[in-house]
Formats: sequence, C-alpha cells, structure tokens
Amino acid sequence: MNLQLDTDGRLRHLLTLEALPRETLCRLLDRAGQIRDTALGRTHKRNSLVGTTVCTLFFEPSTRTRSSFQIAAQRLGADIINFDASTSSARKGETALDTLRNLEAMGVRGFVVRHPDDGAAGMLAEHAGEGTTIINAGDGRSAHPTQGLLDVLTLRQAKGADFSKLKVLIVGDVEHSRVARSDLHALRTLGAGEIRVCGPQALLPKDDTLQGCAVGNDFDAMLEGVDALMMLRLQRERMEEGLVTSLADYHRDYGLTAERLQRAAPGAAVLHPGPINRGVEMTDEIADGPQSLVLRQVGNGVAIRMAVLEALLG
Ligand code: CP
Repeated sequence: MNLQLDTDGRLRHLLTLEALPRETLCRLLDRAGQIRDTALGRTHKRNSLVGTTVCTLFFEPSTRTRSSFQIAAQRLGADIINFDASTSSARKGETALDTLRNLEAMGVRGFVVRHPDDGAAGMLAEHAGEGTTIINAGDGRSAHPTQGLLDVLTLRQAKGADFSKLKVLIVGDVEHSRVARSDLHALRTLGAGEIRVCGPQALLPKDDTLQGCAVGNDFDAMLEGVDALMMLRLQRERMEEGLVTSLADYHRDYGLTAERLQRAAPGAAVLHPGPINRGVEMTDEIADGPQSLVLRQVGNGVAIRMAVLEALLG
C-alpha cells in the first residue's frame, strides 16, 4: 500500500523520497523557490493555512528541523503546537500512537514527527484518522525527506537544474544516516550524473543502499573533480561502539580542509545538514568559508517546509 499518495496521485503524507515521482518532487522544489522570500520573512505572511493546527511531535532533539517547521507553519498562517517527549506523558509510558490520537481529538490536522525508530512515521500514517497528515521529520536511520529536499534545492540553486553532469560526493557515516538515504533518493530521482560515497568501511551500508554509487574509503581520491560534497555528521556514539577509533583519526582521514577541497572542481559546493562537529567533519575555515552552503541550506529548509505543509494541508 502506498501511504504517501492517494489514488489520484496526490501527496497525502510525506514519509520518504524513495519512489516519490519526479514531478511531485520538482513541484515541491519549484514552489519552495517561489516562496523563499516569504519563508525568510522578506514579504508578508500568507494565510493559506489559517484555521489549521499543526503539531511538531518530536521524540528526539532538534534545532533546525523543528524550528523551521514552526516558522514555516506560522508564515502560512497555521496554529502550531510543540510536543516535546521529554516533558510529556510519553515519560509516563504513553505510546506515540496514543499521543497522536489524543492530539487528533483536540483537532490537530498535521503532525511533523521525529522518532528514533525506523518506520515510526509510517506506522503513525497507517493508523492516523482520515483527515490527518503525517510528515516524517526523521525516523531512525530510514529517512529525513524534507532534509533531502532542501539539500537538492540548495544544490539546484548553486549548480543549476540539470543534474545530469553533476558529480556529487557523500562523505561520512552513511550507515546510520537518514539524511544520506534521503539525499540518495532525491539525487537518483533528479538524475545526478555521478554519485560517489566515501567513508570508513565500518560506516558504509552493506545492503543495497549504495546501489549505482561509486564507493570508496580514500577521501582524497574520491574528491577529485567533484562538483558538490555532502558532508555527514559523525555521530559520536560510533566511537563508543568501536566503529571509529578517535575523532582525531576521523578528521585526519575524512575531515574536509582547505587543502583537500582543492582536489574538487573549482567552486565545488560544500553542504552539511548540521549540527556540525567543527574540527571533525570540517575545519572552521571550510564551514564558514565561501564554498560553504550550510546556512543557505538552513534558509531553504523554511521554504521547503512551507511548500510541503501547503501541498499537504492547503
Ligand atoms: N539537519 C537536522 O535534522 O538538524 P536538527 O537535528 O537540528 O533538526
């Protein structure tokens, strides 16, 4: 059963970018581009969601995703409430589904869900009431679709809409990254010319996640001539699991420095979903340098989330 699209092909929930039709994906990117000025507060708020209540239902911490969904909902005229698992009855053992049902009973129509379990957003979409919409804001290591959308929107603005000649390198802990999976889905749908993936062997997926990608462990070699780098956050718990020996070793082998960046194509774009571990995934010079699109990604996050809320709830 396709939970995302109704029988007419209209978006009903947003759970993953996998198999999302190219036309639907491009429509969201185009719309986000159109409303970017409103998203960034440069023009008046819109009122397309007046009377609609949206809830950010977060069972994990967040800065960018939660704040940008809040701003996006407000700039569309919606009412927004924030559910934080750490201060809610989830602490007393209430399930995510019971939480959803109780909030539905209060008239909430849209739920932006972040959860540590793979498939949590899909499970809620399966059991949600008829008029309820679920947006996945990151579930386990499965998907973070709005991050994937804002990443390709940022790439499109920097490098143009034709991805067919684009060489993109994804670097780091792909195995545990929902961002990497959603980026891969979006890049494939948009026909990226070459997708390279690089990281320590222990942090690369062994299943078919990387099908069709050029995969390697030598960062310097993989960097040659790439047009864009998507750096991933190193999740520090991987050191406790023994998958990475030390942050210093990781930086030596996979940290982006000004010297290394010279191997990429001139003007190569540097992306990172945040939060950045400065001095680990990249130096300050790179994070704050002219080729970094990190804050552009954040601004685009509001526009993408407005486009998604409008498409689903408008
Ligand atoms: N990129 C991202 O998901 O950041 P947050 O965890 O701060 O939302």
